[in-house]
Amino acid sequence: MLSFRHLTSTAQITRADADLLLHTAREMEEMLSQGKGSDRMHGKILASLFYEPSTRTRLSFESAMLRLGGHVITADGLQFSSMYKGESIEDTIRVVARYSDIICMRHPQEGSAEAAAKVSPIPFINAGDGPGQHPTQALLDLYTIHKERGTLDGVHIAMAGDLRFGRTVHSLTILLLLYPNTRFTFIAPSELSMPPYLLELLHARKVPFEEKTSLQDGLKADVLYMTRIQKERFADIAVYERLKDAYVLRATDLKEKRLTVLHPLPRVMEIATDVDALPGAAYFRQAENGLTMRMALIALMLA
Ligand code: NCD
Repeated sequence: MLSFRHLTSTAQITRADADLLLHTAREMEEMLSQGKGSDRMHGKILASLFYEPSTRTRLSFESAMLRLGGHVITADGLQFSSMYKGESIEDTIRVVARYSDIICMRHPQEGSAEAAAKVSPIPFINAGDGPGQHPTQALLDLYTIHKERGTLDGVHIAMAGDLRFGRTVHSLTILLLLYPNTRFTFIAPSELSMPPYLLELLHARKVPFEEKTSLQDGLKADVLYMTRIQKERFADIAVYERLKDAYVLRATDLKEKRLTVLHPLPRVMEIATDVDALPGAAYFRQAENGLTMRMALIALMLA
């Protein structure tokens, strides 16, 4: 049993929850690799609401429900929805909950997931709320680090790029605090550094971290987590233009290094395509892990 009914932030996830999710994701992966399906969610409906662009998160959520034998109904694009007419998030959720058994939602506004979960009579999952949180991405990132490195103990992770607006790094930082001896190197231009509330959290927990501005400082970590500069979150596009090429990882940077390279995708230009063939380039495997982790999450939240 998971300790939470709704999932809006990785701050809700306990070590027991994480262990159970990792274990269940592994079972799902085994089942799929044997060419088997499941009817565990037979007769159940996932409502997938995407009010902000998405490809892999949405498709992997929907594929996860279908692979579990359930059904999917979907609404996307703010401009085509009742929210565009002025309906509140709360009212949308109250209504959609009558048509489904579990809801996942992506919305451009930070805090929208909390507002939705508060009124949802059925399990609710945050699939990204603006620059806030993206807990299911963090879970699949965790699963990927475990698979790639064989352990979650003593991981030194470097996160690079847009640490201010990138929600995936916010969620993953909190989640990794469940494991002993995690160390962080945060690499960002000063305008895009980690939000102070997260640095204060690390401070309070006595977790070692350093803040750097050069990508070279990330190459000595075990895991390098690259992120896209989040163009859509900039109030001033000139600032984006100035920062967009801040970091580009190339195959030559990784020579003789045992570095696992992750990226939530989509990548724009922060990882050159010549990195893709290196054994440590794990970002496409990472995206694949999204399916099994979301199968595990849905199955456990509806158990
Ligand atoms: C991320 C997101 O939406 O936050 N993408 C994803 O879910 N795989 C990262 C991003 O958009 O840069």
